[in-house]
Amino acid sequence: MTTGDQPTPYFFAERTARTEHTEGTDPFEYVVIDDPDDGQRFTRYWDLEPLMRGPQPPPRWLVTDRAAVETDLGILKTGKEADVFLLERAVPGTDDLVVLAAKRYRSTDHRNFHRNADYTEGRRTRDSREARAIAKKTAFGRQAAAGQWAWAEWESLCRCWEAGIPVPYPVQIDGTEILMELVTVDGEAAPRLATTRPSPELLAEWFRQLTEAMTALADRGLAHGDLSPYNILAAGERLVIIDLPQMVDIVANPQGADFLMRDCRNVCSWFARRGLDVDEHELFGRLMASCF
Ligand SMILES: Nc1ncnc2c1ncn2[C@@H]1O[C@H](COP(=O)(O)OP(=O)(O)O)[C@@H](O)[C@H]1O
Ligand SMILES: [Mg+2]
Repeated sequence: MTTGDQPTPYFFAERTARTEHTEGTDPFEYVVIDDPDDGQRFTRYWDLEPLMRGPQPPPRWLVTDRAAVETDLGILKTGKEADVFLLERAVPGTDDLVVLAAKRYRSTDHRNFHRNADYTEGRRTRDSREARAIAKKTAFGRQAAAGQWAWAEWESLCRCWEAGIPVPYPVQIDGTEILMELVTVDGEAAPRLATTRPSPELLAEWFRQLTEAMTALADRGLAHGDLSPYNILAAGERLVIIDLPQMVDIVANPQGADFLMRDCRNVCSWFARRGLDVDEHELFGRLMASCF
């Protein structure tokens, strides 16, 4: 199946069905052994540029076999500008299997392309054709914008992962799709912090973990930029931070401090409502101090 001119950036693009030589036949005659069904594709992991694969070496649980087939298991959450799917990556005929989160940015008119001028201030598009297309909101421009947000999230994920900040392991980026570790608890996708009711001890422990992560970001001059109990997952005792396309530079971005303050407020007001004695201004002051 050659689909070189198909618009889809993934799903078999530039990929021909793999073949295997069958014994006793003409050596030039091959048979297709695993033509994937609908909703399946061969993994593109090794077809991608090194920078589009996550930090090496990958964790042991990641399936990286070239023969792996990826199967869409359905949607986990839909959002305004991206949808998150469950994606199984497995090697046929073996027990090698992993379920990943696939975040796919939509190339619809983006929520926030205007609002997001705040976030992207100082960031430049290298490609002026892309920049013009984004400004004009052509179909190509919308696709390019989606790709830029995906790329921004990818870079933030890799940077945080390498700094030891608790984020899902970034597996790969391919156009507008990011594959990452699926954060689970008891075999299910982990709940968002917003829906949890922790004991006082766990509440205090989570706040400690979260401020430690925010401090590690601030040490690097960074703020999440959209931190809230909806972008934090509770994986049992452990918190994991997600949704990072808008990470901001606290000092270089003229509104960096405002974003940091908002992150502090969102987080502290949730913890305060659950009964922990925390102060957003105190946290903000501490984080500002650690970024200089
Ligand atoms: N790596 C992940 N593991 C488990 N659940 C995830 C993961 N990434 C996203 N989700 C779920 O999908 C939802 C939307 O993802 P998010 O990155 O926050 O995108 P959005 O921009 O739509 O808010 C999250 O609130 C969470 O419930
Ligand atoms: Mg989110």
